[in-house]
Amino acid sequence: MPLRILITGSNGLLGQKLVAALRNDPEVELIATGRGGDRTPQALGDRYHTLDITEPDSVREVIISTRPTTIIHTAAMTNVDACELDPPACHRQNVQATQYLVEAAKDVGAHFIFLSTDFVFDGAQGPYTEEALPSPLSVYGHSKLEGELIVMNSGLEKWAVARTIIVYGVAPGLSRSNVVLWAKDALEKGAPIRVVNDQWRMPTLAEDLADGCIRIAKRGVTGIFNLSGPDGMTILELVERVGHFFRSDTRIIEAVGSDQLGQPARRPPRTGFVLDKARRELGYSPRTFEEGLAVLKTQLGSSEGVDR
Ligand SMILES: NC(=O)c1ccc[n+]([C@@H]2O[C@H](COP(=O)([O-])OP(=O)(O)OC[C@H]3O[C@@H](n4cnc5c(N)ncnc54)[C@H](OP(=O)(O)O)[C@@H]3O)[C@@H](O)[C@H]2O)c1
Repeated sequence: MPLRILITGSNGLLGQKLVAALRNDPEVELIATGRGGDRTPQALGDRYHTLDITEPDSVREVIISTRPTTIIHTAAMTNVDACELDPPACHRQNVQATQYLVEAAKDVGAHFIFLSTDFVFDGAQGPYTEEALPSPLSVYGHSKLEGELIVMNSGLEKWAVARTIIVYGVAPGLSRSNVVLWAKDALEKGAPIRVVNDQWRMPTLAEDLADGCIRIAKRGVTGIFNLSGPDGMTILELVERVGHFFRSDTRIIEAVGSDQLGQPARRPPRTGFVLDKARRELGYSPRTFEEGLAVLKTQLGSSEGVDR
């Protein structure tokens, strides 16, 4: 029997990469769902369902009528500062909606895969294994941890939490950009930029994250899985490496501490993941940062016309 994989947030960065990887997969029947209309580059037709995950009746209706074997739940309020400024909205989208989806998943016996984040940690001592104890610093981090706990304590027969870090890539019509695209554009414009030198991360190519999620889905595994890129760096180093790769002048970068940016949400200083479990149990093999930038460069140069 083929897997029937339902994706939430199919217009988002990860959602679009999942759709691209699965739409022609003979082992998979794809059910894409997103807020409003389908914004993926090639229309999905009747494989797309409009679904606002904060509406419990719609969640139930779509899941009961499509009966997925697997749900990859990517949709979320992903802007960390917006979450900090509007905790009720963050709770509705990241916690309550996850509860609605999990309840419906239980009704149809689906394998539930929840996307989570390094921001469930306080960043005191990364890189983290899957067993490390979460301790979020922000409203967003708390909301994703609550989502994780809903999934883990749900009584679902099969579930997975896929944690990731700074996802980058290109896709059409995204509602928000990502740090790599921001850095590339800002450096090309040549205006001075301020970049933090005290936050350490392992950035993740969206295609690699999609591949990791699909490996979880096809193996039907339960548990927490770290799915990030393999290379650790500060955000300052990240921006410099983007600049060097795309041959931009990096002298316009001013290194600053997080306290100088005045962002509403606190960020963990040092995250990063130990990837041994994902490599061993899933065969996950993410690309180096420069290999990821090469993928992005090819896509930006392709004739598909990526607007963002
Ligand atoms: N991006 C990162 O750096 C990062 C890091 C760690 C973890 N994660 C996690 O990874 C997952 C995927 O992230 P991403 O980079 O693909 O994020 P993204 O590009 O911001 O996509 C999120 C998608 O969720 C959709 N969405 C939000 N609220 C919704 C609602 N009420 N109903 C239906 N759809 C809704 C958005 O719809 P619209 O397009 O209409 O706005 C958007 O398409 C998220 O769960 C996120 O928490 C991301």
